[in-house]
Amino acid sequence: MTANPGGSLVLLNPGPACTSDRVRAALGRGDWCHREPEFSELLASIRSGLTRVLNVADTHEAIVVTGSGTSAMEMAVISAVRADRSILVVRNGVYGDRLAGIAEVHGITVHSVGGAWTDPADPQAVRAALAEHPDVDAVAVVQHETTTGLVNPVGAIGRIAREAGVLMVVDAISATAIEDEGHEDLNADIICGTANKGLHGLPGISFILCSHRGIERLQEVPVRSLYLNADTYLTGQRKGDVPFTPAVQVCFALDEAIRELEERGGVAARVAEYKERAALVRAGLARLGLEVLIPAEHRSNSISMIYLPEGISYPELHDALKADGFVIYAGQGDLAKTFFRVATMGELPLSTLERFLTSLETAISKIRAGR
Ligand SMILES: Cc1ncc(COP(=O)(O)O)c(C=O)c1O
Repeated sequence: MTANPGGSLVLLNPGPACTSDRVRAALGRGDWCHREPEFSELLASIRSGLTRVLNVADTHEAIVVTGSGTSAMEMAVISAVRADRSILVVRNGVYGDRLAGIAEVHGITVHSVGGAWTDPADPQAVRAALAEHPDVDAVAVVQHETTTGLVNPVGAIGRIAREAGVLMVVDAISATAIEDEGHEDLNADIICGTANKGLHGLPGISFILCSHRGIERLQEVPVRSLYLNADTYLTGQRKGDVPFTPAVQVCFALDEAIRELEERGGVAARVAEYKERAALVRAGLARLGLEVLIPAEHRSNSISMIYLPEGISYPELHDALKADGFVIYAGQGDLAKTFFRVATMGELPLSTLERFLTSLETAISKIRAGR
């Protein structure tokens, strides 16, 4: 075993993603105390940077939390629903199910709008469910279901939620800076994001972005968690404080990643780059005769859920590619028997993706030849 077995691997999993030298170097800015003014300045820079790059500076405020993306989801769900009210969850993948699971753990009544994992959510089904359940206080939906690489029509669902007078929570964790040029058209009141996917930061920091209505709501809900109470964070962060010890060095990296994003043309340029990557990978897959599960018009700009080549298992393909420096990703649960996933997130030049396609072709031939 080498000291850093993952050191030179190209990560084609949906985060944590490969980062630039500049972002990784930011980890070494130093040892800081989070109760000192320099940390308050860093926090202010991250909070304003997030809303600025995501085009919601006039409408939303950021709350930064130390934890993985699921902590932002949990903070969002428990902040959106008042006592004795319920949540309507759109479920067409693992992360929709997780939003519902979080609500259940906290004793919040869940109504669901289901659907096949290959089909985008139907906004009219959301409208019907809202009419059927007048106790609903918030709709929750995943923008990009990382499970399959499917994009949901969040903007349309948000308009319906607004008309019905309920809040909308969006898990944009794998969509931020990848699927849209900003979050202003989502019509969302609480948006969950994370540092280590489209923003190209490191794992350990996530955030929610709250509209004015969202902020009003988080002040009306009962306190359901000591660690994840959004109102405590917001009150503190407006003054430059954090309630608990933050991942200081991961904040350095996120701050640097936001600067890097802006210097490279902002989210519009990044979305264009992700589209180019997806086109390159999907053209290569088609050349190899490999099919992607989700129809082209509903696919995300980052994930391809691909049928395994005939007669080849996921572990065989994974190990052959890893030996050549590429980490692919399994389907979740039973999907691992039929599919593999390729995510093109993070610092990933097109030339690396071209090398990956060659490696994939070689791996398939070698596995077949070895039989
Ligand atoms: C859409 C979505 N939501 C939530 C999460 C959970 O994030 P984490 O694993 O950082 O808790 C992920 C992780 O991949 C995701 O893709």
